[in-house]
Amino acid sequence: MKRALFVAAFGLAAAAPAFADLALATSKNCMSCHAVDRKILGPSFKEIAAKYKDNKGAADTLATKIIKGGSGVWGAVSMPANNQVSEADAKKLAAWVLSTK
Ligand code: HEC
Repeated sequence: MKRALFVAAFGLAAAAPAFADLALATSKNCMSCHAVDRKILGPSFKEIAAKYKDNKGAADTLATKIIKGGSGVWGAVSMPANNQVSEADAKKLAAWVLSTK
């Protein structure tokens, strides 16, 4: 029974990559400060996607900022470093954030 559930959940994640990346963002604690479509402590991921839509280097810049943190772009609150995020996961998360527009 457990195994069937796992297979079903995995199938869903594979069929919907956006869902898988939301799960990754949730597991890395991003969603305690961000939401896809509204501001919490940090800007919404849709706002971020809109801001960088014409910026070709944005995925790399944002991947670095996701790991190291950053400040001064969106307001007075800064994002602390997210040292639990690997470079590969940061790239996935940056690409996903940019795809939410
Ligand atoms: C403690 C709260 C907090 C957490 C946890 C957090 N963020 Fe942020 N994030 C912020 C704030 C605040 C900003 C705005 C910083 C600024 O103005 O430069 C921000 C900005 C960003 C930006 C835009 C950076 C820019 O230069 O425009 C991205 C992308 C981002 N966060 C992604 C993530 C991801 C992915 C995670 C999970 C690994 C995450 N954040 C975790 C608070 C947080």
